[in-house]
Order: sequence, then C-alpha cells, then structure tokens
Amino acid sequence: MKIMTIVGARPQFVKAAVVSREMNKRSGIHGVLLHTGQHYDANMSDVFFDELDIPRPDYHLGIGNGTHGQNTGRMIEAIERVLFDERPDWVLVYGDTDSTLAGVIAAVKLHIPVAHVEAGLRSFNRKMPEEYNRVLADHASTLLFAPTAVAERNLAHEGIPARMVQVVGDVMYDASLYYGGKAESQSDILRRLALVEQPYILATVHRQENTDDKQHIENILEAFSHAPCPVVWPVHPRTHKQMRAFGLSLPESVVAIDPLGYLDMVKLEKNAALIATDSGGVQKEAYFYGVPCITLRGETEWVELVDVGANRLVATDVDAIIAGYAHISTSLKNLPVLYGNGDAGCKIVDSLQDHLSHV
Ligand code: UD1
Ligand code: UDP
Repeated sequence: MKIMTIVGARPQFVKAAVVSREMNKRSGIHGVLLHTGQHYDANMSDVFFDELDIPRPDYHLGIGNGTHGQNTGRMIEAIERVLFDERPDWVLVYGDTDSTLAGVIAAVKLHIPVAHVEAGLRSFNRKMPEEYNRVLADHASTLLFAPTAVAERNLAHEGIPARMVQVVGDVMYDASLYYGGKAESQSDILRRLALVEQPYILATVHRQENTDDKQHIENILEAFSHAPCPVVWPVHPRTHKQMRAFGLSLPESVVAIDPLGYLDMVKLEKNAALIATDSGGVQKEAYFYGVPCITLRGETEWVELVDVGANRLVATDVDAIIAGYAHISTSLKNLPVLYGNGDAGCKIVDSLQDHLSHV
C-alpha cells in the first residue's frame, strides 16, 4: 500500500512524525513524503525533520512566501504532477493549512482517496483562512480522522456520513507522550535563556487576524508590558515581518527569540508559569503539560479546553490579558482526559490498512 503524506507547515511536521513512525513499524506500507515548502526557514522546517526523525521528503516543491491564492494554486498544480507519477493508494493530509487544501483538491480530482487527520475542527469564524481550508478539506475527504467527539458532532451537523468518520484522539497528544521526556532531558533552553527556576510566561502569536491588524499586535504588546514576569516569545517570521512593517518595538518585559525547534519549545512549555498563545497546537500542549493557558483569540476550535478550565479566551483585549496573569502557576491537576489514549497514530494507520482491504 502506498501512502503519500503531504505536509508544508510547522505543526504538520509534528503530526506527521507520529504517523510516519507508526507506518515505518509495519510491513507492506510504502510511504512517500511530499513537502510543499510552505514553511521554509531552517528553524520552521529542517529542525523538525532532524529532531523528530522524519524521513527526508521524497518531493520538495519549494512553494511558499506567496498569497493564499498563489501558494494554493501553485501547490495544486505541482502536487498533481507528483500524483500522476506516484499514483498512491492514499493521500494523507493534516490540519487546515493551504498545503492541506492543495493536497486534497489535487488528489480527489484524480480519484485518489484522501484521509484527513484533525477533521471536524471548527472555529465558526469565517474570517480565518484556516476555517475554509478545514471545511473544504473535510467535505472532499474520503476518510476523516476526528480528534474528539465534538469534532465528530461538527461533521455530523454538516451532513458527513458517520461511516466516513472515525474518532481516534489527537496525534499531538501521542507526540507529547513520545517527545515530552526527551525534551525534558535533552533541551538546555532554560539554561541558555537564564530561566532556570525563574517564572516566565511563554508566548506565541502568528494568526493572520492578529498579525495583520496593527491594533491587535499593539494591544498584545501593551498587555505584555504589564506582565509580572518575563514574557519569552519565539517570534514567528510572519509576526516579525508585520511588527517591522508597523514600526512596533518590544517592551522590556519581552524576551524575543527566533522560532525554536520542537524539543526546546516543549521544554519551555513544560516549565512555563503561564502560556499566552493564538496557536492551536500550543493551546493543547499547555493542557498536556498541565500549564494554564490564555488564548489570544475570541474563539477556539479546541472548545473542550475552555470547558474544563484549562484555557481562557482573552482575545486581544488588554485588560482581559492582564487579568489572565492571575492564573499564573494555577494548578491544573485532575483534568479529564480529552484527546484519546496516545494511540491516535496507530489507529490511523490501522484504519488506512483496513479501508484499503475493503475497497
Ligand atoms: C500557516 C497556516 C496556519 C498555521 C501556521 C503554523 C495557512 C493559511 N496558515 O500560517 O494555519 O497555524 O502556518 O505556523 O496555511 N514565513 C517565513 N518563513 C517561513 C514561513 C513563513 O518568512 O519559513 C513568512 C513569509 O513571509 C510568509 C508568511 O510568513 O508569507 C506567512 O506564512 P504562511 O505559511 O502563508 O502562513 P502562516 O502565518 O505561517
Ligand atoms: N512550535 C515549535 N517552535 C516554536 C513555536 C511552536 O516547535 O517556536 C511547535 C509547537 O510546540 C507545536 C507546533 O509548533 O507543536 C504548533 O505550531 P504553530 O503554533 O505554528 O501552528 P498551529 O498549531 O497554530 O497551527
């Protein structure tokens, strides 16, 4: 069975690492990896392949740094060419990026079945590019791997037949179990940043709705200037570019650093007093490692985190963010298990094998 995995952006490398490891354990699976090039800086891409033992991509399209239309269009054309040659049994895509959508569209038009990991997530905010990517990917896919029962319900509400949907848990939870210990023992980021035994807030910001709105970034910076401890912020290249374009400078409380490799990032997450983020993956990782989280968005796809009190939505309201500092070092013990048993990768590969034998 030939499975072609399509990735392009940072969070997809983490997710694909989990499933690729599971595929490598089995006989009879030939994995082909295609990297669209959506993320291309060494610290946004190569570092993940090195640290997470992801096989080198068989195809690297080198398509990034464009608008949504440019990236998606060029990717569809280039992926289609590869699909003509490879003719895989499955195309496997992750999440909600432009690379996801391009992979789905290229494959289904050639009648190649698509499996979508992280299906059914919804923000119900149609201003987000990711919301279109998710909805369109889900409605075109053959097999939908939902991380939670909420995601499964979202798909049912949109009329997607239950037989196409399987709740498997979250592959990022698998990743946290596999890499969490490695990060703790192998990363020396706390020493490098002189943060050993120091309370700090870990921040990440990269959403279009925040980075492309000067007022939103200004509010975040204003709120961070009132933080009761240093705010350590690995700055996404998009955010860096926008802050420069807006002529914004960082308050003294912020320790801005380049984007981190996964192990350094996880180490910082595990030891943070609070996480402030607009990232989907980082919201969940905060919960996996028992760290309180405030989310710099008005809504989240990961609603169960809010329901159980692990996460608070503060958007970019200065007062709400400052009020969020009250949750520093709050204990998050005894939270319910939300994202499966840590075997999502295994269930996904089982299912791909099963379905093919029934086609
Ligand atoms: C993308 C995804 C988003 C995901 C995020 C993860 C879409 C629509 N968005 O957002 O869902 O949460 O990745 O990080 O697919 N850039 C660089 N170097 C890089 C990568 C990006 O300089 O290695 C800069 C470029 O100027 C680029 C901009 O960042 O144009 C935006 O990159 P893009 O991949 O389009 O979107 P992200 O904001 O990264
Ligand atoms: N991440 C990382 N280094 C960083 C920032 C994030 O390794 O400097 C990891 C993070 O731990 C998580 C993933 O990247 O596993 C999340 O990606 P991102 O926030 O870019 O995207 P999202 O999850 O919002 O789509």
